[in-house]
Amino acid sequence: MIKTSALSKTFPGGVEAVRSVDLVVEAGEIVGFLGPNGAGKTTTMRMLTTLVRPTGGTATVAGHDLLADPRGVRRRIGYVSQGGGTDLANPVGEELELHAMLYGMRPAEARDRVGRVLDRFGLTELRERPGGALSGGQRRRFDLAFGLVHDPALLFLDEPTTGLDPQSRAALWDHVRSLRDRLGLTVFLTTHYLDEADALADRLFVIDDGVIVAQGTPAELKGGTGTLDDVFLSITGRSLRDDPPGPPGTDGERQAAHTAGGER
Ligand SMILES: Nc1ncnc2c1ncn2[C@@H]1O[C@H](COP(=O)(O)OP(=O)(O)OP(=O)(O)O)[C@@H](O)[C@H]1O
Ligand SMILES: [Mg+2]
Repeated sequence: MIKTSALSKTFPGGVEAVRSVDLVVEAGEIVGFLGPNGAGKTTTMRMLTTLVRPTGGTATVAGHDLLADPRGVRRRIGYVSQGGGTDLANPVGEELELHAMLYGMRPAEARDRVGRVLDRFGLTELRERPGGALSGGQRRRFDLAFGLVHDPALLFLDEPTTGLDPQSRAALWDHVRSLRDRLGLTVFLTTHYLDEADALADRLFVIDDGVIVAQGTPAELKGGTGTLDDVFLSITGRSLRDDPPGPPGTDGERQAAHTAGGER
């Protein structure tokens, strides 16, 4: 469903946000993309969703070539960005209908589809409410509905549960799981909650400083000992990412020490 080859992004000014990333995601997988602040998660996701043009490498996403056929990619994916990307002045239902029609649904079909998606996310009562007047958790559910209303095969979620209370987080996990189980949706998500990655993802990639430094199932990465938090800190170090360069330990050494699962 996703296959990248040496995917890279250097921003003007020289920041090498993503460096030669190779990853493969199979249809129907829930994949967690982990890494410290500034590691390159959002940049990778924005490349895979056609919003940022790679400066190197290639990728196939949902059956279409990222560079040759970005429209084809866009038609088959949903993307819920880190900050949410919806117009908050519009009523929730209207915004979703517009989005569905943008993807080629007729008005009646869009209304029907939106009704079902609102129902699934417990938002039916809020259909007439402007997006800006939702609570944080309602807003995140609305964002998720937005990512799904056009029935994509592949859903990208950038920190979908940040700021949610435990109930809303658990509900969102259930939604994501049931979408995969019932519809075969493939999900690629970033999170800083490692318990979430552990519980939800079939497979994990860890990116640090633009480089994939580990990959495998949660069990493989944990290696039978410790929690995912311990493993994450041992792979990516303890220094804050705005600090000056820290203690020794090159990317190469860390990768060699911790890559699990291997290429697929
Ligand atoms: N438009 C841009 N221009 C220049 N540099 C950028 C731009 N966007 C991102 N960067 C830089 O690229 C690097 C990767 O950023 P990115 O947003 O991909 O990180 P992230 O892993 O999503 O982090 P977070 O966990 O904080 O969301 C950072 O150093 C960031 O400052
Ligand atoms: Mg980010």
